[in-house]
Order: sequence, then C-alpha cells, then structure tokens
Amino acid sequence: MASSNDSIKQTLLIALSLCVVCSILVSGAAVILKPAQDANKLLDRNKNILSAAGLFDPEVHSDADVAQLFAQFTPRIVDLEQGRLLSEAETDQLGIDLSTYDPRRAVNDPRYSRALSAAQDVANIKRQLLYPMVYVVGSEDDVEQIVLPINGYGLWGILYGFLALEGDGNTVDGIGFYELKETPGLGAEVTNPRWRNQWPGKKIYAASGDVALDVVRGSGSGPSQISGLAGATLTSRGVENLIQFWMGENGFGPFLQNLRNS
Ligand SMILES: Cc1cc2nc3c(=O)[nH]c(=O)nc-3n(C[C@H](O)[C@H](O)[C@H](O)COP(=O)(O)O)c2cc1C
Repeated sequence: MASSNDSIKQTLLIALSLCVVCSILVSGAAVILKPAQDANKLLDRNKNILSAAGLFDPEVHSDADVAQLFAQFTPRIVDLEQGRLLSEAETDQLGIDLSTYDPRRAVNDPRYSRALSAAQDVANIKRQLLYPMVYVVGSEDDVEQIVLPINGYGLWGILYGFLALEGDGNTVDGIGFYELKETPGLGAEVTNPRWRNQWPGKKIYAASGDVALDVVRGSGSGPSQISGLAGATLTSRGVENLIQFWMGENGFGPFLQNLRNS
C-alpha cells in the first residue's frame, strides 16, 4: 500500500512548495542584486565614455579610478533641432531628470524621439532620440571636450558607442563602442585599440561644413580618412554611415556647427 507521502496530493504539494520557495529565492536575489547591477551598469557606461575620450587606459587605470576621472564630465541634454545645450530649467521642463534619464529607453518614447524616414535613416536605426545626453568637459561658453553618443547598424545589429570631440566641435579625441553584435575577429575589431588609435586628431568636417570623415576600404590617408577593416567592409561601412548620420544635419551637425562658430 502506498504511504501517504507517495500520494498524488502530497507530490503536488511538495512540487508546488518547491516552486514557491525557488521563485521567492530568485525574485529575492533579483531585488537584492538590482542596486549592484545598476552600479555596475553606470560604472561600465562611465568607463566607456572615458575610454572614448582617451582618458581611461585599462593598463594604467582600474575601476576604482573611474569616479574620480569621470568627475570632470558634466552630463547635459542637447536639443538636436535647436542645435544647443539645454539649461537645467529647460531640461526639467521636458521632464528629464539627468540622474535617471535612460536614453536607450527614451528612444522609444514619442515625447523624446522621432521615427526616421528611409531617406533620413542613413545609420539604419529606425528611431532617433531628439534629446541625447552628452558629456561636457569645461563650461558651456568654453567647451574643452564633448562626448557624444552614437549608434548605427553594422552587419549583424546596432553598434552603440561614444565619439569624443575637442571643443572645436571638429577634431576627434577618440571613439569607442560598448555594445555590438559584430563577429569577433572581423567586425568586432572596431573595439580593438589598434583600429581605434587612428581616430584621434581626425577632422569630422570639410571647410564647406560637410561631413568629411570617411571610413575607406584599404588604407586611409589625410586628415579625415580612416582605414576600414580588412574582411569587415560591411561593419566599416556601418561605422561610416553612423558618423555621416550623427555628425550630419539630422544629428549633432547643427549643434557642432554652433560650437565651431562660438
Ligand atoms: C561567419 C561570418 C561572419 C562575418 N562577420 C562579419 C562582420 O562582423 N562584419 C563584416 O563586415 N563582415 C563580416 N563577414 C564578412 C562579410 O560577409 C563580407 O564578406 C565582408 O564584410 C566583406 O569585407 P571585405 O570586402 O573587406 O573582405 C562575416 C562573414 C562570415 C562568413
């Protein structure tokens, strides 16, 4: 005769209890670990911004240096249509709290973003944030350096990164990508310091004001050419396109023009 422990009711009860205990453990762990995850995300973002700006070298610096190095940057919102930095009051009026603003989420919020037409969408990103968060070194009247968020489609997905420019709004200080789906050893070589090292000093704009920076097939030369990656022409073209888009008239172009004229 089956003992009471072998009954269907008892088996279901034990399975159910186990499910409840496990779900409490998993959700408890998620809640407890959330602050640590958020802190790590912030650390990673700040490290990427510093890295694009050429201020974080993993061989010299550690995670402990990030907060101090990052303290020189002030996060600000750019109004792309007006081509200028918004004041604190204007940022508040838009309902943006800089300490919690998540640009990657805001790009899906129609208050802060717009859908791009096929003709506009050079970087193949579908939607564009109209109020990106940038990181400024120096004051509003005397910008020494500015780090701009950039994104665009490569071969397998959207690459997310930062482009750092000098206060002249034209000279590149560095570029970095922190999220991408490109193939390691091929397209993902855009994260290789050897490839990134050719960016500092390059000029984004021609004298005419047009975007001159070009990622070329083969060996680049001159003030605005970057050598594309051999065997990864499609990712290289994706980087070229995202630079064209974000530095152009629908991206940071008007803002950088104002910066160059100031
Ligand atoms: C498995 C696989 C992964 C690839 N990943 C990439 C990539 O991440 N980026 C890229 O541009 N090309 C990638 N390619 C190569 C492209 O299909 C294409 O051949 C290449 O971009 C052309 O560059 P090339 O003209 O410099 O050789 C990959 C190819 C294969 C077979």
